[in-house]
Amino acid sequence: MSILKSFIVFEGLDGAGTTTQIRNLARYYEFNRRPYSITAEPTGNPIGQLIRKILQKKVVTTPEALAMLYAADRSDHLYNPSYGIARLIDEGRIVLSDRYFYSSIAYQSVECDRSLIRTVNSFPSPEFLIFIDTPVEDCMRRIDKRGEEKELFDRAEYLAAVRENYLEELGRLESGVNLLVVDGRKSIEETEKEIRSYLSSFSL
Ligand code: TYD
Repeated sequence: MSILKSFIVFEGLDGAGTTTQIRNLARYYEFNRRPYSITAEPTGNPIGQLIRKILQKKVVTTPEALAMLYAADRSDHLYNPSYGIARLIDEGRIVLSDRYFYSSIAYQSVECDRSLIRTVNSFPSPEFLIFIDTPVEDCMRRIDKRGEEKELFDRAEYLAAVRENYLEELGRLESGVNLLVVDGRKSIEETEKEIRSYLSSFSL
């Protein structure tokens, strides 16, 4: 597989703080007039919308079907001719994504055969992977505070297994992926600074 230049992926458990950090980094690029796009998986596109319905238990399916939907949503997210990430990168933008295929490997592998997950996720790697490592208990506390209807994965034991999968995957990244692991227990500001200074050492 290959590396997608200027593609920055944020990963972490639910409640780890990826959404806040990605938004703050986008604000920084905005301030510096750097062309960028911010995006997320599952997407808001039709396949992503179906995934949300499954997570909200409005539609019932199997873990394998869900895994393949995540991969289908990702393929569309990458290669859609009008809004695909590949196209945005070709246009010279920095693309920031809240989650990518690492989420599938970490989450879907809990219930599905990992080789199936890997096979359907043969996508190019990002140039940068930022993993916000937040202990399960802290994530659970934040999820609770949000008071949202609990989605399928908002469960402590599940998240503990997901975290193990993430850590294992981080140890076998494709060469050329620059990994930054940040301690999710630090303050928002401290984490933000750490991410910025890491990326700026690569002129991003
Ligand atoms: P996300 O939108 O990040 O969560 P939130 O709605 O709390 O902001 O992701 C929704 C859920 O989907 C989350 O539990 C992680 C899960 N997920 C997977 O299981 N596999 C995947 O490939 C992706 C992208 C997300």
